[in-house]
Amino acid sequence: LKLLRPRVLAAVQKASPAAGEIPTVADCAYINAWLSAKSSGTFGDIQVRGLLQAAKRLKLDPHTFAADVISNLEISEIGIAKVDGPGFINIELSAPFLEKRLEETFFKGDPRLGVDKVEDRIVIDYSSPNLAKEMHVGHLRSTIIGDALARVHRFAGSEVIAQNHVGDWGTQFGMLIAHVNDASTSVDLDKLQGLETLYVEAKVRFDADKDFADRARENVVKLQAGDQAMLKQWEQIVDVSLKHAQKIYDTLGVLLTRKDVCGESFYNNDLHNVVKDLTDLGLLVVDQGAKVVFTPLFQKDFGKGKPIFMVQKGGDGFGYAATDLAAIRHRVRNLKGKRLLYVIDNRQSLHCKQLFDVASRAGFLPPDVTATHVGFGTMMGKDKKPFKTRTGGTVKLAELIGEAQDRAYQLAKDKNARRTKGDVFSEEQLRDIGNKVGIGAIKYADLSKHRDKDYIFDLDSMLQFEGNTAPYLMYAYTRARSVARGAAAADAADSTAVAASTSKIVPRLQERAEHNLAVTLLQFPDELQQVLDTSLTHHLCTYMYRLAQAYTQFYNACPVIKAPDAETRESRLAMCTITSQMMKTGLGLLGIQVLETM
Ligand code: ARG
Repeated sequence: LKLLRPRVLAAVQKASPAAGEIPTVADCAYINAWLSAKSSGTFGDIQVRGLLQAAKRLKLDPHTFAADVISNLEISEIGIAKVDGPGFINIELSAPFLEKRLEETFFKGDPRLGVDKVEDRIVIDYSSPNLAKEMHVGHLRSTIIGDALARVHRFAGSEVIAQNHVGDWGTQFGMLIAHVNDASTSVDLDKLQGLETLYVEAKVRFDADKDFADRARENVVKLQAGDQAMLKQWEQIVDVSLKHAQKIYDTLGVLLTRKDVCGESFYNNDLHNVVKDLTDLGLLVVDQGAKVVFTPLFQKDFGKGKPIFMVQKGGDGFGYAATDLAAIRHRVRNLKGKRLLYVIDNRQSLHCKQLFDVASRAGFLPPDVTATHVGFGTMMGKDKKPFKTRTGGTVKLAELIGEAQDRAYQLAKDKNARRTKGDVFSEEQLRDIGNKVGIGAIKYADLSKHRDKDYIFDLDSMLQFEGNTAPYLMYAYTRARSVARGAAAADAADSTAVAASTSKIVPRLQERAEHNLAVTLLQFPDELQQVLDTSLTHHLCTYMYRLAQAYTQFYNACPVIKAPDAETRESRLAMCTITSQMMKTGLGLLGIQVLETM
């Protein structure tokens, strides 16, 4: 809970013999992990864990240490603390303290719901597909994770600059254009699908036919030199691809637009400067005709290969690495980024390490700017192998999204048919529900897993209404909203009732379940901070799940519309309102749109 964490840290520090020795960075992370939500039934709202281990490390008696920490907590105005066994301190927060915090967080128009404003300038590289092909599952995770991070950082107040570093340059374009220009092929460049077929054909020829391959390479050289005719064809291909990508972004509801596109081609004119600067600095070495920077730090990562960062292949134009060096400099110099995030597949983690290393040695990445690889694992099929179509092909993103939406629609339709009371939905509403739940499910399944790990893409489990899924959370939101609607309807029917559901009173916490829900609501800033610090979105997802559970417990234990008295009813309605506000905010940060009924 915000304010509690620093307080605990300070108390631990004060109880430690060598003040200043603890917390070190490692200890800080460790101590932070101590604070967790209580499991219901035991005493306390917050548990400070790990004191036994800390006492051992500090060579102190654990009981005395825990007692010291407690007295240093100076907790009386916010609650009570008790030692529980040698390793734990349980803190029970007082109702007045929680009520005051609820008021500050939800009733004073705080747009960040308790999160401290961050003033950072963050460049996030995400999505970044290679063009001239349809987007496929390999682009999904970067797009979804990057979008959530952009939203979270913007919410916290940072300036976020999205960079869609599309692969719009290089051999594949030379190849494609060579193929298109062959009289034998009739082409419709306006359709990406046609383009994709052409791409496959071109690749076959490229690999089999030396003449063709040479012509393809010549085209690349011409393109790099600014040949007008070549550029025109290139532009056409890029435009069709980007329109296709934009359609996917719009369907997914990610915030990327055309103005965020800053692809490889953008850096073309700067690449010789990069080579020149690296040469002047003495970093660039000619190795078997190629220009490379040695990166001995990563020797062990290379297996039998050489630890080199390939800036320019022998005569053959610049590579991916050169472009990324130009890009990192652009992000620092021109975009004025202070924090650079690269949301890229873990398979490129060596590339990122080398890039950051070479960039800092070259002074492109100054010490006051951080660059982080936000890596992620592979999307696997149910067979635990990289996700493929039944026939072994790559899965197109448009098809995958469509399937999720259809399945979600079907589920909503079945449920609708079984409905005996409540809303019956029109076909149009069912489609809307299917679309939002389908997208929400795909996003949530991805964001709720630890991003470093591979994860199994399984529509059945992500569309379940039970457990840690988008449908469960979206449904919890509709329930919280329907209580408010129910109250309004009851009030409308009863002309003597005061308009309780519209008033804005701060809740009074009487029942255990209310207390727990309040604690959970107030944990949001801490949980969001974790996402801001680590770019691990699952912290927010786990939090959302806990919030939905705390709400369910509250809902089961505390009648709202039939509350014992008017004041309690208003207070509980206010709890419903702020909970739904928090749910909508949290889901929104994950890029998930809520529904009012479903
Ligand atoms: N286009 C690349 C790919 O599909 C990803 C680019 C990621 N961003 C970057 N700055 N390297 O593998």
